[in-house]
Amino acid sequence: MSHVALAETLRRHGQDHLWQFADQLSVADRAALERQIAGIDFAQVAELFRHGVTNESHAELAARAAAPPAFRLSGQGNPFTVAEARRAGETALAAGQVGAVLVAGGQGTRLGFDHPKGMYPIGPVSNATLFQILIEKLVATGLRYGVRIPLYLMTSPATHEETLAYLDANQRFGLAAEDLIVFCQGTMPAVDAQSGRLLLEAPGRLFASPDGHGGMLAALDKSQALADMRRRQLRQLFYFQIDNPLVEVCDPVFVGYHMLAGSELSTQVVAKQQATERVGNVVSVDGQVRIIEYSDLPADIAAQQNADGSLKLWAGNIAVHVFDVAFLERVAADDHSLPFHVARKAVPYLNERGELITPSEPNAIKFERFIFDLLPLAKQAIVMEIDGRRVFAPVKNAPGSKTDSPETVRRQMLDLYREWLAAAGANVGAAAVEISPRFALDATELASKIAPGTTFATDTYLTCDHYSPTESPSCCTR
Ligand code: UD1
Repeated sequence: MSHVALAETLRRHGQDHLWQFADQLSVADRAALERQIAGIDFAQVAELFRHGVTNESHAELAARAAAPPAFRLSGQGNPFTVAEARRAGETALAAGQVGAVLVAGGQGTRLGFDHPKGMYPIGPVSNATLFQILIEKLVATGLRYGVRIPLYLMTSPATHEETLAYLDANQRFGLAAEDLIVFCQGTMPAVDAQSGRLLLEAPGRLFASPDGHGGMLAALDKSQALADMRRRQLRQLFYFQIDNPLVEVCDPVFVGYHMLAGSELSTQVVAKQQATERVGNVVSVDGQVRIIEYSDLPADIAAQQNADGSLKLWAGNIAVHVFDVAFLERVAADDHSLPFHVARKAVPYLNERGELITPSEPNAIKFERFIFDLLPLAKQAIVMEIDGRRVFAPVKNAPGSKTDSPETVRRQMLDLYREWLAAAGANVGAAAVEISPRFALDATELASKIAPGTTFATDTYLTCDHYSPTESPSCCTR
């Protein structure tokens, strides 16, 4: 874009201030600012500022919401048995038609951790990071089914370089280099909440933040990751988030239900214990499955009950999905598949005198897309209930917090392993025993590797490399 064209674009959109300090910039910095400006769709930003996000009101949607079509843990009303679903999922996995996508664009800010969240040490005995645990689960699952499962890993500009360096330094935790496809999500500028003007964070740089996990759709397409899936003949994509070390990666029962139901996008849910639990609500509105965030669900609607006293809107989103690859291809072709959500945030910015202002109250609007907003576009979307105690332990809050903190997550991990060890006939006593995915992915596999009566007197990390207290040369075989 020539300088004249750039100036004209900025003037037309009332954004001249973005070029205000250009004279003070080096040639390189000015060129960088120019590139950043050229990448902005000003008309789109103006439209978002004027009209907010979706045109539908959440309260209106919520008023029409019913429970979604679901495979319940009780088995009640399920048209397929767990065994049938497992068989279908295992067949798909063994045929190499399942890939995985992990969204890891977030930083550990809420945790007080100044790195990509995936680098947070969470293993209760090993201090293994979230990346290590999740990738080892994926590799172990591939070994179990005799295939290599490719991982599409989404980073953001803030996490990209550090994530690459970290995974490289750790040999990708056993994942073959060609099976790790790292792609970076896009960004969106933030605007001043009063005027709709974009914000400068430095004389030569606009403030921009990641465009939400919904940015995955465009980024998969742009990075050629979708084309790569097609090349590998993948049919289903298992989606998970970086913050849950207990997720059952590529859960065959879930993949199987998804396939048997003919679903294009499926979601794992927990049965909420309380009406106002801080999870997204998976509901059905006019026959379409959707997610309404807890913050958008009016309290009186959240509290509605069935005749037996159970919650009417019972399904809590744990952010684990299966996508049909063909569905992703279809919706990626339309840039308008996903709406934007707005969030009011305090964003530091340069004022017209070039001073950096750090507001204490929200002054700006950020725009984000959520991947689950694809649900209404999917055919036969279904949900599958899981036992949250066993497979859902998200690390969200700073150490010391009462819920979803590193301590509560580690405790939940140890409780689960203790249950597996007890089922295998081991004696654990007060020791903390952590089980690496390389050693066992579930209770059945653990039982095949531990002799009944084995005693753990001290804190132990069961993994392939060092298996204590008794060395087991076969521990890595599957
Ligand atoms: C999310 C869900 C919520 C669900 C909960 C379960 C949303 C809006 N809400 O809440 O319904 O009950 O998880 O744990 O998602 N990420 C990116 N790029 C971004 C933003 C996020 O990669 O631009 C990734 C994060 O790294 C993380 C995941 O998306 O892996 C979730 O983001 P987060 O903001 O933590 O969602 P929650 O508010 O916890």
